[in-house]
Amino acid sequence: MRSLISILDFSVEELDALIAVAQDIIAHPEAYQTRCAHKKLATLFFEPSTRTRLSFEAAMLELGGSVIGFSQAASSSASKGESVADTAKIISCYADIIAMRHPREGAPYVASRNATIPVINAGDGGHNHPTQTLADLLTISRENGRLNGLTIGICGDLKYGRTVHSLIEAMSRYEGNRFVLISPEQLKLPGYVRRNVLDARGIPYAQTACLESAIGELDVLYMTRIQQERFDDPAEYERLKNSYVLTPEKMALGQPTLRVLHPLPRVNEISVKVDDDPRAAYFRQALNGKYMRMALILKLLEEAQADPVREEIDTSGFTYDGVCTNPKCISAVEQELPQIFRLTDSAAGIRRCLYCEQRLK
Ligand code: CP
Repeated sequence: MRSLISILDFSVEELDALIAVAQDIIAHPEAYQTRCAHKKLATLFFEPSTRTRLSFEAAMLELGGSVIGFSQAASSSASKGESVADTAKIISCYADIIAMRHPREGAPYVASRNATIPVINAGDGGHNHPTQTLADLLTISRENGRLNGLTIGICGDLKYGRTVHSLIEAMSRYEGNRFVLISPEQLKLPGYVRRNVLDARGIPYAQTACLESAIGELDVLYMTRIQQERFDDPAEYERLKNSYVLTPEKMALGQPTLRVLHPLPRVNEISVKVDDDPRAAYFRQALNGKYMRMALILKLLEEAQADPVREEIDTSGFTYDGVCTNPKCISAVEQELPQIFRLTDSAAGIRRCLYCEQRLK
């Protein structure tokens, strides 16, 4: 039995297979109508969501299954202090698969190590959002006709945007892609993503603050929202919130084959006047999310049926002497969680928190 916590949990072959299943669902929805009959999805959303929660629920219903869950922490026993680990054990008694969104980085990972059913990370703080990446991959594949040899511009909040980190991880694994990272200085891509993903794999990239100068060379423009909820300083958010607004005038600088994606919700970083441009793919992207979540639910339930034992993790590089200093890490609030660090770069002696991947200082 496997869970999906990071997009790196799946190989490129598995991602391609999921895209193929999603394409088949689109072509032959009737063939999938009862594939999850008598199965239950639990949607455990400790943080607000429209697309992710409802597309998961629609996905399970269209597969013939049913859905239980909650949409805010306040209506669960987390509000009484119940731990993520206990919640996962309890939900395993009632459902066949879990989709969890949580503001604490690493919370879905903790759930996956305690549940006896597959757990899907539906977004954990500013860390990962792998099912958004699945939606992004299907969208790029359908809209651009390929996943390789693309120039991908990512614009806005590259620091806190969890969808950005997962998308870069995924698209770096396809041949011939290059990135143009468009952000204000304060919201640049974190150094660990640049070093561990782009530099480590020799992926070409450029950094700029100017959308207008970059848009003409792009095959994909991935716009993102400035993530107000992740800022510690509200004044800093106010200064940066209108850094980029995509307008028809800026779209006129893009190629006819350009496709604009956005994980949504948008605030005002894409003018509604862009919506009727055929290159605006963000609403189609939200629909693609449902198909990829259908493919994912099928895959994880089939794997769990074939082998119900939780996948072992390799503990060989683990160390237990340190304290994670990320205030958003699940280990910062769940005091009984052991502090565990993984050696991620033995030459440089870099160790990272098992839950949130913050470097141990
Ligand atoms: N893209 C995305 O995660 O949207 P929601 O927050 O509405 O789920």
